[in-house]
Amino acid sequence: MTGNRPAVRPARPFFSSGPCAKRPGWTLQALNDACLGRSHRSKPGKAKLKDAIGRTRSVLGVPKDYRIGIVAGSDTGAVEMALWSLLGPKPIDVLAWESFGEDWVTDCAKQLKLKDTRIIKAAYGELPDLKQTDSARDIVFLWNGTTSGVRVPNGDWIADAREGLTICDATSAAFAMDLPWTKLDVVTFSWQKVLGGEGAHGMLILSPRAVARLESYNPPWPMPKTFRMTKDGKLVEGIFEGETINTPSMLALEDYLDTLKWAETIGGLRGLIARADRNLSVLANWVKRTSWVDFLARDPATRSNTSVCLKIADPWFTALAPDAQAAAASKIASLLEKEGVALDIGGYRAAPPGLRIWCGATVDSSDLESLTPWLDWAFAQVKNG
Ligand SMILES: Cc1ncc(COP(=O)(O)O)c(C=O)c1O
Repeated sequence: MTGNRPAVRPARPFFSSGPCAKRPGWTLQALNDACLGRSHRSKPGKAKLKDAIGRTRSVLGVPKDYRIGIVAGSDTGAVEMALWSLLGPKPIDVLAWESFGEDWVTDCAKQLKLKDTRIIKAAYGELPDLKQTDSARDIVFLWNGTTSGVRVPNGDWIADAREGLTICDATSAAFAMDLPWTKLDVVTFSWQKVLGGEGAHGMLILSPRAVARLESYNPPWPMPKTFRMTKDGKLVEGIFEGETINTPSMLALEDYLDTLKWAETIGGLRGLIARADRNLSVLANWVKRTSWVDFLARDPATRSNTSVCLKIADPWFTALAPDAQAAAASKIASLLEKEGVALDIGGYRAAPPGLRIWCGATVDSSDLESLTPWLDWAFAQVKNG
């Protein structure tokens, strides 16, 4: 390891885990056709909202009988809309192995105060024992833990014939991983994540069983207007046809449409997954040959192909006190930011000190190839003071 700067910089230094890199070739001109200064309930406005729902269905392969809605409050809004509307009639298993899972634990146990909530946890880098979940209960979980880089490997642990609902926050998984729709009753994600859209809206996808719950259960707590999906015990179908509950950003919508059209040009979901997998393999090859770094995700089967979280395994680093470790990891990230080679790659604040490098489809593998020598360079700089 030398003090010389590597020769090549990534062409696009955008490796943030959200908002994520824009798609290759994106410019503001992609938004030229936005329906601005018009009502979102106008004919062209509504057509665009409907188009976004249709393209989402086709790219993700969402079954015909699942509803897809555009909702307020990004992924958080979509998840909380589901939790507030559906939970209560059944006991709940909520899984947490990193920070966002902990948020949903807080919602279930502390905010909604659902007494029969069982919390199934694991430490950063690990996945909880999925077999502990009970299909008689509602199950709340993340497909991909964005802050630890640990994902569920598949849906085999979810019973086909289940009594409870499965509520899956898939914001850093959708468009990068296969989601087994028949195992999932609620799926949520945000525009700002894997396709590199703008922060604004969330997507809420409901199975027929989730809709049946909505129509048969009236929660005992007050329901904010932005969460209300039923009227007189019937689903408000318009929400799932582009009639949003409140006003969406038509500019963010145009951008989401642009991301979906790009996804279609690269082979849809298969193309998106292939790009994320290739990106992960660039980092995996580098990790294999680099002694100072390792994946935070212990089991290779659970390693994320989007939010790749890395820990620093060098004995110099592991001998440091926790505060000094955090400072050293953040120095690596800020050094690379200053050099303009990698933006926003510091690990999540609540995660063990390390780095987090986004590998979703909007990132080019050539940029990750260019990045790895810089990671070695920055580590050496910080280690050698
Ligand atoms: C798994 C997960 N859930 C929820 C969120 C919150 O998403 P948003 O800010 O889009 O509401 C994020 C954001 O990174 C996430 O990764």
